[in-house]
Amino acid sequence: MPNTKPSLLKDLNHNYDGLQPNPIRIFDAEASKIDGVLKLSLGEPDFNVPEHIKQAAINAITTNQSHYGPSNGWPVVRQAAADFLKDRYNLDYNPDTEIALTVGATEGLHSFLDTILNPGDKVLMPSPTFSLYDQLIRINGAEPVYINTESSGFVLTPEQLQHAIDENGAAVKAILLNFPSNPTGVTYNAAQVKAIADVVRKTDLIVISDEIYSELTYDAPHASFAGELPEQTLLINGVSKSHAMTGWRIGIAAGPADLMKRVSLAHAFNVTSASNPELYAAAEALSTEAGRQDTLKMKAEYIKRRDFVVEAMTKLGFKIANPSGAFYVFAKIPAGYIQDDNEFCYDLVRKNKLALIAGSGFGPGGEHYIRLSYAASMDDLKEAMKRLTAYINENKPA
Ligand SMILES: Cc1ncc(COP(=O)(O)O)c(C=O)c1O
Repeated sequence: MPNTKPSLLKDLNHNYDGLQPNPIRIFDAEASKIDGVLKLSLGEPDFNVPEHIKQAAINAITTNQSHYGPSNGWPVVRQAAADFLKDRYNLDYNPDTEIALTVGATEGLHSFLDTILNPGDKVLMPSPTFSLYDQLIRINGAEPVYINTESSGFVLTPEQLQHAIDENGAAVKAILLNFPSNPTGVTYNAAQVKAIADVVRKTDLIVISDEIYSELTYDAPHASFAGELPEQTLLINGVSKSHAMTGWRIGIAAGPADLMKRVSLAHAFNVTSASNPELYAAAEALSTEAGRQDTLKMKAEYIKRRDFVVEAMTKLGFKIANPSGAFYVFAKIPAGYIQDDNEFCYDLVRKNKLALIAGSGFGPGGEHYIRLSYAASMDDLKEAMKRLTAYINENKPA
């Protein structure tokens, strides 16, 4: 196959100019080349999909659920999603008009941003945050605006938000929240959610609240932003993290009916619908007692792993952001060691074959931090702590 005629490449969609593949993937590809490397770099549960959920997908295949369905997902699956949101977070969504099942949380976020953004709009984001948001905003010709939350323990305060709204003026269209957070593992309690909602209520801003890790909170029940301000919230959830189904690609997008009408158009134009076997599997995950128990079992494991890693890293001198949800530890590099987080991660992986992610890739506030994903077996975590201990001991400041 010959290369593209060069002159054709000059005037493609300029919103993509300068965009790069996710830096985590680039580092991961580099790290993977190292023989014997141990990777705690990806946000990917290590559990298998529970058997009863697999069976639901198999049943859909053997009963020939092979035809186009409604673009927002089959009614029974939308009902399961609505029941899940009601049961777990006391949220009231009409499955016929206020819920769309998407191709992972990612496509839901994409459809939300496609729907609401015009070129030149700004989207506020507490930072550090999940790097995909930046790219999804930019491909819509809009501008991400980061609010550095390091000084407030990685939780956005009402004062920080108000300041950013005042500073950026009428161009601000939306706020993109994510809690429990990737990369920090920090989450918001009910009072913190309410404090942010009280600021947003006075504005015409839309909040996109990515709560994909809501089932993985360890110290207090999750408080959804949609519980405080449903009329201004577009909510994202899904089964990727709660049921270790990242490769199955089912997300839940929910919001007020008139906004969701537009979101559903974006979703339908992009993908027509999510895939049938995965949709039926998600219904099984979301609506059955067995599905609930799966999550609780995984959560109990994550708590043990978190406690182990936090204790070990604290002993080594890392200062760790309050690790209350998701499956990440966000740790400040101890004084005296390489302070550039990118250099630190490359040095660690080259010398001791442990791959962790540099915090600065997640935006302002992440500099000098590293992210460790504890969605890995206890054996791997023990080995990781051995390698990290060796690195810390062997590179002691003079
Ligand atoms: C905060 C956050 N949102 C969304 C996603 C993507 O979720 P999905 O795999 O369901 O598209 C991830 C995946 O790591 C994430 O960390």
